[in-house]
Amino acid sequence: HSARGTRKWLMGLLARLAEDDLLRVQLLRFIDVLPTLKSDTDLVEHMKAYFLDVELLFPESLKREIKHADQWPAPHIIAPIIRESAEWIGHRFIAGHEPAKAERALKRLIKQGRMASLDILGETVLSEREACAYQSQYLELIESLALKTKHLGPFHISIKASSLYSQMKPWATEESTEVIKQRLRPILMRVRECGGSITLDMEHYDTKHIILKVFREILMEREFRDWDGAGIALQAYLKDTEDDLTDLIQWAKDRGTAVWVRLVRGAYWDLETVVARREGWPLPVWEEKWQTDQNYERCLALLIKNYRHIHPAVATHNVRSLALAMALIKDAAIPSNQYEFQMLYGMADGLQAGLVEMGQPLRIYVPTGPIIPGMAYLVRRLLENSSNTSFLHQAMMPRVDDAELLAEPLPSEARNGEEKGLLVEPVHRFVKTSERQLFSDAIENVRGELGGFHPLMIGSQDLITEQRILSFNPARPSELVGEVSAATEKEADSAVAAANSALPAWRECGASERARLLRKAASLLRSRRDQFSAWEIFEVGKTWREADADVAEAIDYLHYYADQAERLDAGQRFDVFGETNAYLYQPRGVAIILPPWNFPLAIATGMLSAAIVCGNTAILKPSSQSPVTAALLVRLLHEVGVPEGVVNYLPAEGRTVGEYLVRHPKVNLIAFTGSRQVGIRIQQLATKCMAEQGHVKHVIAEMGGKNAIIVDEDADLDDAIAGIVASAFGYAGQKCSACSRVIALNGIYDELLPRLVQAAGSLPIGPPELPSTFLGPVISASAKKRIEQAISAGQERGLLLQSKEVPGSDDGFFIGPAIFSDVRPDDPIAQEEIFGPVLAFMKAENFDQALKIANCTPYALAGGVYSRNPHHLHQSASMFDVGNLYLNRAITGAVVGRNPFGGFRMSGVGHKAGGPDYLLQFVQAKTVTENTLRRGFAPE
Ligand code: FDA
Repeated sequence: HSARGTRKWLMGLLARLAEDDLLRVQLLRFIDVLPTLKSDTDLVEHMKAYFLDVELLFPESLKREIKHADQWPAPHIIAPIIRESAEWIGHRFIAGHEPAKAERALKRLIKQGRMASLDILGETVLSEREACAYQSQYLELIESLALKTKHLGPFHISIKASSLYSQMKPWATEESTEVIKQRLRPILMRVRECGGSITLDMEHYDTKHIILKVFREILMEREFRDWDGAGIALQAYLKDTEDDLTDLIQWAKDRGTAVWVRLVRGAYWDLETVVARREGWPLPVWEEKWQTDQNYERCLALLIKNYRHIHPAVATHNVRSLALAMALIKDAAIPSNQYEFQMLYGMADGLQAGLVEMGQPLRIYVPTGPIIPGMAYLVRRLLENSSNTSFLHQAMMPRVDDAELLAEPLPSEARNGEEKGLLVEPVHRFVKTSERQLFSDAIENVRGELGGFHPLMIGSQDLITEQRILSFNPARPSELVGEVSAATEKEADSAVAAANSALPAWRECGASERARLLRKAASLLRSRRDQFSAWEIFEVGKTWREADADVAEAIDYLHYYADQAERLDAGQRFDVFGETNAYLYQPRGVAIILPPWNFPLAIATGMLSAAIVCGNTAILKPSSQSPVTAALLVRLLHEVGVPEGVVNYLPAEGRTVGEYLVRHPKVNLIAFTGSRQVGIRIQQLATKCMAEQGHVKHVIAEMGGKNAIIVDEDADLDDAIAGIVASAFGYAGQKCSACSRVIALNGIYDELLPRLVQAAGSLPIGPPELPSTFLGPVISASAKKRIEQAISAGQERGLLLQSKEVPGSDDGFFIGPAIFSDVRPDDPIAQEEIFGPVLAFMKAENFDQALKIANCTPYALAGGVYSRNPHHLHQSASMFDVGNLYLNRAITGAVVGRNPFGGFRMSGVGHKAGGPDYLLQFVQAKTVTENTLRRGFAPE
């Protein structure tokens, strides 16, 4: 087929995208994965998987050929055509990698009377090395443009702040702003010295406040305050933008020298919408296109009115916006060096030519860079061009007249049936200053309350014993978080007696009353959310995000189990003529709740609330590492009216009093989450029936994991690295779902490993109360010692690639991330749970082997796969032997009700926490059958 024929087919295909959702999704996904497909066979295999039906894709002539050649042409024929086509599309929107190509594009634009803004496309910046490389690339670009200023005129560049700092996070606003300013300063300096200008691109909503802060602060510095060559993009699709613009105008007035604002609609509408909906956050973007359009016009008017302070850069391809801007600019008589229009390279060529013809200043945004990392940009452009709401798409539709394109944006029919999904307690987004301030205030308040004393709570009594458990801050071991009374066997007996005597009334009060109390507890916990998070930060070393997520999850458990208990309480009926059959649930009795320290609120709340909502009474024996958080939980439950004796608080030594409770004949149920060793021990102890026992105990034991993430050859590496880092090093690897093994396919291993090592090495380590900290301490001195021993033992056999020195580590139990490469699947480092920031890297020849390695430990808890091969994703779903399998995302952070959590084999026994079957373990079912036939008749 000729190149022309192929292009014609491609254009036809692209034109069909807006009408055909399936084709659109599959084609964009295929273009996205294409650059990673190295072999022709691989490319064709993916094509088959993505476009199951060739009818979807090919022109008649090719279809005929396909039919003859046993359905598909040989890979070596089809693959080059596809690659060439994708490159051709890519080059429509991206000026290319080589400097010569970019220069050629620039010259062409200048010849056409257009100015340019150059942008460097790249991978997501995941490490400090990558961020510094980016900064250097920009500095080099500036030097090369400066050399050519004579021929090309003054230059302009656009830059993404996120490319200058790998740890830019909404909660770490101050730190992110400082680092970005520091890296941006030399860039601005050179741009200014060389007579160029610059715009800060606007990115995702999470970083908007940081980019604005960087912009405002840096331009107030002495070197830049009188410079008018800097600008920032603002997105009209955001509800905040009009306010942001108003603030910026005031700021520019105070500054005294004008800046530029590039007004765009915004390039990430789909992403912002999906993320906010998934996380339960308020939508930051307008939901309807006409609302964005109206906002664009409002902001445009505001900009033009204040053009002396803020020079407008009208960046759009929408004819109505362009026309309105022209009219307003003319009315305001803005000098031509104080405004400009801007458009994207490769978009709306006719409009670009038209504007130039009309004598309007026009700048074209020209992305440069290799096509592979440019794929995300390319997919965004194609998505935009093929969207039904896009102006460009509408303008291409047959029978659209000018009046329609120029029509005022007015409310259209509202879309109906917004899907809600399961509602969960949203975690903090930390984009608002007030949200961050309240959180930080809570930390300070709790700091003032550290060191308090908490007695045992048994029945109606607060009991003080002689023995104490001291809880210290793992980040600062000399800091006492709290002191609690420790129970002996005597208090254990009292607690069991109190729980038994509270049982009948609690059982009788009914499921809806118990559910009501759980919901009330959820509300009270919500009102103290930040305070509870602060306690976790001090007691177990959680970072801001981790602590907040744990408290949100505890709220979710309370709601979820309240709902589930009411569902169970309805029972079931299996009636027939003359016989009623009621299938009912009743509580088991007294439950011992043994939660771990690593989710000190969520898991304790989950197990405890599940037990009591079903009518059982409970004794909570917290981990000795987190007794203070547990005390606060029990107090809160008492505060909302959970009756005396229903929940008893009994901190104690596990090996002695804990085991005594497990063996106790008056205990019916044991719910445990923790290590495999203790879990198995509890199972063994609980099976022994005492003479006076009269029942068999039920044990729920959730134990460890040795969780693996497989990275396929076609994986999105940016995503995979971010997901592995979050899963392996979040909360210093101290989650049962943490990733401790990576199994990378041969073809991607060498690319993945160094980037991951760099990314891990860039994670900020420090006290968890600092918002920028990613890695806090591990829980205790003994945990630290154990992890260090595992690392040095591993070092004798494998290659330790990363182990970061931790500054001031004497003060706290800090350990940097450790990564081992070329680990054998049977090596202890790949088999034993370490519960720390230690990651073993393994290589697999093919996907089948990767699955085999993944399954070769005694555990089966969580696992993940990064792949864009539909067959491999499908295969994993059935063959990857884990309780929770995550595809193309991190493997920690299960959400109650949405990702019910728990494993099998040596990872645990029992139904999944936060799932529809969980409560069944806390009840026993009873069938009541009644013969309703009396004297030969039965009621209907
Ligand atoms: P058009 O009228 O077709 O608008 C499409 C836009 O409307 C969508 O992109 C979306 O924003 C919005 N929209 C679509 N459906 C919607 C719905 N249901 N509800 C609400 N809104 C909806 N972008 C960015 O985010 N940061 C940046 O820094 C830049 N930089 C930049 C520079 C230059 C020079 C240009 C020309 C463009 C950008 N952009 C950008 C990209 C810009 O956001 C993108 O091109 C526009 O979204 C396309 O909108 P138009 O105004 O051309 O047309």
